[in-house]
This record gives sequence, structure tokens and C-alpha cells, in this order.
Amino acid sequence: MNICSDRVLQIPRSGIREIFDLIPEFKDVVNLCIGEPDFTTPSFIIKKAFEAAQSGATHYTANAGFLELREQISEKYKEEQGIHYAPDEEIIITMGAMEALFLSLMTIINPGEEVILPDPFWPNYEAQILIAGGKPVFVPTKEEEGWVLTAERIMPYLTSKTKAIIINSPSNPTGCAYSLHQLEQIARVAKDKNLIVISDECYEKIIYEGKHRSIASLEGMQPRTIVINSFSKTYAMTGWRIGYALGSKDIIKQMAKLQEDVASCASSVSQKAAIVALKEGNDSVEKMLQRYKVRRDLILEEIEKTPEISCLPPRGAFYIFLNIKKLNQSSRDVALKWLKEARVATVPGSSFGKEGEGYLRVSFSVSEDKIKEAFERIRGIL
Ligand SMILES: Cc1ncc(COP(=O)(O)O)c(C=O)c1O
Repeated sequence: MNICSDRVLQIPRSGIREIFDLIPEFKDVVNLCIGEPDFTTPSFIIKKAFEAAQSGATHYTANAGFLELREQISEKYKEEQGIHYAPDEEIIITMGAMEALFLSLMTIINPGEEVILPDPFWPNYEAQILIAGGKPVFVPTKEEEGWVLTAERIMPYLTSKTKAIIINSPSNPTGCAYSLHQLEQIARVAKDKNLIVISDECYEKIIYEGKHRSIASLEGMQPRTIVINSFSKTYAMTGWRIGYALGSKDIIKQMAKLQEDVASCASSVSQKAAIVALKEGNDSVEKMLQRYKVRRDLILEEIEKTPEISCLPPRGAFYIFLNIKKLNQSSRDVALKWLKEARVATVPGSSFGKEGEGYLRVSFSVSEDKIKEAFERIRGIL
């Protein structure tokens, strides 16, 4: 008998880890694997959260989180997306988007039910679907189609067991962001086939063209969408582990029940920090966005100067999905070569699914100097 469960053993090891684990073996690596803001949380958020802790915000909260925070999130979605979520029934605060996603999948997926995932995908989706007993169904997306999931691409993969579609706009790893028309297509499929949409909107504020639109705001979609969101990327608060989910009251009620058995609640201090972030964080968000824009333009210039590689300019998030097909080597081999010979760390595209082969994920959540240094080194070995 194996001491570990089949459930845990079936989960694939993240391909991102292989490169990460190798980095310490090399000196002076420019690390472009980073999946989080390189900024520190704005200091006023840290200060006020610390004060809240000193004033006694150190206890368990309701399973669904502080009502004040849920009320603010409700206002935010009303203002930005024109949709109303009842703070006491349709919103739950979680330990990051990661837990929001976990509770969502555990709540809606029965064993054997299928979840549509656009490939390339963020690997945690696959793992979490498997943990929930579901079956991930990978639908190819293509660089020449902007890496977006289309109705035509989804249709052949639908079966009587399809329960949900996960979309992630803006996307990790491809940087794609869905247009209104593209969201409408997904919404049509979801309504026709009676599917739930899990909409991961973690990068909603890191967007370079236009504004983020939630699929939940489209006609008839709110009751069948679970919105996943987070403070991690928007406010540079990854370590605080604070996120949330919005959905119908039937779903959120079950997620809050499950929360009791998983974590009881999200950290009270982090919830206080999130309240400050929502109330006073807009300027900081804008400043960080401006920095990401500068870095995005710079990395696009550097890629332009390097004829062996190319990319589709990202519409959001802080990743380039770099096309390395001209190098005629697997993405793993190229990532290892660049790490060993140029001391530049990137993530092999194959870590994000079959469609990621031929690409590397390159994060530009690093200083401008590091971006320049990395591309000089890469050109030096090409
Ligand atoms: C697409 C996507 N969703 C969710 C998360 C998890 O975010 P959180 O820190 O809120 O758990 C990440 C983190 O990298 C992500 O890239």
C-alpha cells in the first residue's frame, strides 16, 4: 500500500519548478521566471494593517470574511462592471485566488465531470480540477488567433459531462485579454450548453489596451459565472494571501461551508489590509501599471532587436509568451541552455500545456536594467 493517496500522486509536478530549483546552482542569474509583482506592497497598506492588528483584528472572522470587505468588493463590481453582488450572500473572501478557485471547483465538480481549459494554461488549474475529481479537457488556442478560446475551438470538446469552462483574462502565461466580442462567444456557448464559467480576473488591473470587462456582466451570465479575483497582483500583495470569489448565493453558501473545514477564514490582518487597498490604493495601482507599461515596451524593443525570437505583444499581465520556434529546439532545452549559458531564467512553454511547446514564458516584472541585461546575454549566445 502506498502511504500517499492516489489523489495527490496523480497531480503532475509543475514544470516551472525544474528551472526554479536549478537557479541557485548558478551565480548572478537574471530571473525572468517571476510570477508576481517585484514591487513591495504600498507602505500605507502595511502600516494600516499593522495598526488594525494592534487594535485587535487578530481573531477568526466569519467564514466568508469581514462584511465590510465584502461590501467594498460589491461596490467595486457595481461601479466597474455594473453588476450587483449581495455582500452577505454572493461574496466570499479567500486565501488568495488560489483558494477561491479550489473552493469553487470542490463546490461544483462531481467525480468525472469535465472542465474546459484553454491550452496554454496556468498549471494550477489542471491540478485543482484533478484534486476535485474532475477531468481537465484541454482546448488548443493559437498565437495567430491571439491565444483566445473561441466558440469554434470549444465545440468539438463538449460532451454530456462538460460542467464548466475556465477563462483567464488577462492571461498567465500568454498575456492575452478577451475582447467584448470574444467574451460574448464564450457566453453564448455557456448559455446554450448550460455550463458554468469560472472567470479568473486576477490580472484585471494590469491591462495595456482598454479596460477589463468581466464575462459576468454580460446578459444572463451572472448566475452562471464564478468570478475569481485577488489582491495579489493588483496591489503587490502576493504574500498576504488574500482573494475572493463572487457567484450565485447557492454556490457561495456551499463555498463558505467548505471554508470552515479548509481554513476557517482568510487571515484577519490581510482582510484589513485589503480594505485599505480597495479604499485608498488606486494611485498605487496606476503607478505600478505605468511601470509595467515601460517594461513591456522595453522588452518588446529588445525582442525586436533579436531576429531569432518573436512574440505577440501582451494585452495584459506581465508576461511575454516568446516564440522560439526558429531555434528548432524544445522549450525545455532552450530554457536550460539560456539558464546555463546566459544565466537567464525563463519558464519552458511546455509547462503550460502542449500548445506551449515552442515558447518560453518571460516575465517582465523586473527592473528595466535586468530586462536589458537579460537580452544582451541572450543575444550573446544565439
Ligand atoms: C492566473 C492566475 N490565477 C490565480 C493566481 C493565484 O493568485 P493568488 O496569489 O491570489 O492566489 C495566479 C498566481 O500566479 C495566477 O497567475
